[in-house]
Amino acid sequence: MTRRSYQIAVLPGDGIGPEIMAVTLTVLEKLGQKFGIDFVFQEALIGGAAIDQTGQPLPPETLELCRSSDGVLLGAVGGPQWDELPSHLRPEQALLGLRSGLGLFANLRPAKVFPELVNASPLKPEIVSGVDILVVRELTGGVYFGQPKGIFTTETGEQRGVNTMAYRASEIDRIGRVAFAAAQKRRKQLCSVDKANVLEVSQLWRQRMNLLAQAYPDVTLTHLYVDNAAMQLIRWPKQFDVIVTENLFGDILSDEAAMLTGSIGMLPSASLGESGPGVFEPVHGSAPDIAGRDIANPLAQILSAAMLLRYGLNELEAADALETAVSRVLQQGYRTGDIYTEGTQRVGCRAMGEQVATALSV
Ligand code: IPM
Ligand code: MG
Repeated sequence: MTRRSYQIAVLPGDGIGPEIMAVTLTVLEKLGQKFGIDFVFQEALIGGAAIDQTGQPLPPETLELCRSSDGVLLGAVGGPQWDELPSHLRPEQALLGLRSGLGLFANLRPAKVFPELVNASPLKPEIVSGVDILVVRELTGGVYFGQPKGIFTTETGEQRGVNTMAYRASEIDRIGRVAFAAAQKRRKQLCSVDKANVLEVSQLWRQRMNLLAQAYPDVTLTHLYVDNAAMQLIRWPKQFDVIVTENLFGDILSDEAAMLTGSIGMLPSASLGESGPGVFEPVHGSAPDIAGRDIANPLAQILSAAMLLRYGLNELEAADALETAVSRVLQQGYRTGDIYTEGTQRVGCRAMGEQVATALSV
């Protein structure tokens, strides 16, 4: 086997970010030994940690390091101590800066229910068992970035807040292509979610998706309005394979889909551009309330590393091995507090990582 070497930008961030990241890097080292991969980890500041040390949530050096890497592994950002800052200085701004700075227009958020965790979901087992959904969220357009935006003062002296939901056809097409291609590799069902009964931007979205569908005859395209989609996700989630939607709808629906699996602490994500490094991060946040106590669930971060291997580095075998190791550890009954149920064995963050590393050598 030829040895491969990758430069990975490591951005632990805030809250539980540093501890779940440390565990993940140890697991990756072990995986690298097994598969002949050298990971060169280069750490940089982001979020609140970066604000405290440099005054800004995304220092230019961090963005530069990310640009020159083969992939970015991100922990989580944010915490109550930075909540009062003006919006352009808040930790969350770093995420938006990374997304636009690296052109990461495609956000893949898988929500897969592990059989061992069926009982951790707030929904009935028969509703959630077997759920395996991929949410493809557009990430650099829509109301998050559209112009005009801001809080303005009207002629009568009243304040008026404005954001704009806008998409160019080419922006819709490129996220559409990612979603169709993803569906081709799965169960070939694509549901596009919009609000075309009210919004012009959604009418264009729907038209473009229908046009694109002609190039993917093996994929079945359906459409849902976002309010109905929110309901269907709870009513009968197994009807979904791949969901494609715009930025804000995707933000909301991906949290909803996450909850089907019982714990947001299990879910990874990948943010990809046309070319260049992607960003791989857990869907959950920085959980400041449990930070530093070695009780956080590191599995979403570990599974994000698996997405880095799969989508960022094309190391498919290593990605499979890592995902299999996580499943094995769950089968063995190890659980962090967030997914603990009676009869299983409660472990902390580091111990969970050690179990994954051990499972890798089986
Ligand atoms: C997410 C988060 C972010 C978003 C916030 C923190 C900016 O909710 O990644 O889903 O809204 O995109
Ligand atoms: Mg969100």
